[in-house]
Amino acid sequence: MARQPLKRKIEEKVKPQFPQPIDFDGANWNEMEDDYTQLFYEQNLSQFWRPEDISLQSDLNVWDILPDEVKDAYSKNLLVLTFLDTYQGDIGMPVVSRSLDDRFHQRKAVLNFMAAMENAVHAKSYSNIFMTFLPSHVISELFAWGNKNDNLQNIMSLIVGAYEVLDRFTYVRNYDPEKVDFTEEEFLEAQWKAMCASVFLESWLFYSGFYYPLYFYGQGKLMQAGEIINLILRDESIHGLYVGKLSQEIFETFDAEKQEELKGWMFNLLHKLYKETSELVETIYDPLDLSHDVKIFVRYNANKALMNLGFDPVYPQEEVNPLVINGLNTETKTHDFFSMKGTGYQKMKTEALKDSDFVFNQPARGAKVS
Ligand SMILES: [Fe+2]
Ligand SMILES: [Fe+2]
Repeated sequence: MARQPLKRKIEEKVKPQFPQPIDFDGANWNEMEDDYTQLFYEQNLSQFWRPEDISLQSDLNVWDILPDEVKDAYSKNLLVLTFLDTYQGDIGMPVVSRSLDDRFHQRKAVLNFMAAMENAVHAKSYSNIFMTFLPSHVISELFAWGNKNDNLQNIMSLIVGAYEVLDRFTYVRNYDPEKVDFTEEEFLEAQWKAMCASVFLESWLFYSGFYYPLYFYGQGKLMQAGEIINLILRDESIHGLYVGKLSQEIFETFDAEKQEELKGWMFNLLHKLYKETSELVETIYDPLDLSHDVKIFVRYNANKALMNLGFDPVYPQEEVNPLVINGLNTETKTHDFFSMKGTGYQKMKTEALKDSDFVFNQPARGAKVS
């Protein structure tokens, strides 16, 4: 049977038939599901890259002469990103994808593609950096540090917790209707909360982790690792935009009172994540006297994530370290195609994204693809 429509009355219980009658259909890419998903599809695929596209060997000249405390902070920061990317690929994106109604085959495809990038490309790239820069026993110690770091574990559990709640709702809704003990609105709340967590991860926590690699990149150091970071950053940028867009559609279905309640939940999550992230930043960057500067970038990205979710920024505008801004600016780099694959080099036609690319008219479901 066709799954429940997205918007339903508050009181209505979800009562899918079980076993569900066979009514499978296929993704028809000749018709638009909305007016933005196929744009994101094109952008995602045109940005595709592989961890092995970039050789890291030439960074070793710089890495080898860095002080130990700098190597330690750089490695721990990438380890944090590894943990986040791993679960975003294993759980985050897949859970959001399977929570969508079956009629959204194209949206699912886009989310599944993003899911594949997180672990198979992004997390693996961090492992490639570790493998190049660090001896194997130090890599093992690094992962063990992540397993035991309370702040990192708390961040993971705050984010993954929202995914797990939605996953349970989706499972029961689709496969175990006898156990349905929630309304359709409660399902949508869980879906929105998971998307909110996803955007906080993509647009805020990932970006905050890019501070230190960009800090080096902006000074022309560890350039190959910086190239990898720029490729990952480019992916996370559109991931956060896309899931943010989906989340806003759901948020609009709630009445004003429910929206206020959900905003309260979101700011509570934001404050918890900010507390854990701040402590984690101090652990990693206090030895370098950089924590204050990193936290400015953390707040800058929290504001960006809120905007992707359709809300106003909450932190005052502050000046981000120009070295990091310089590292973020992908248009100013020079490329040596014999030794690196920069973000200006793509296999397929790709244009740099502009804010105006993400101003859409209302979705015209079923409109033909031109
Ligand atoms: Fe990622
Ligand atoms: Fe992502």
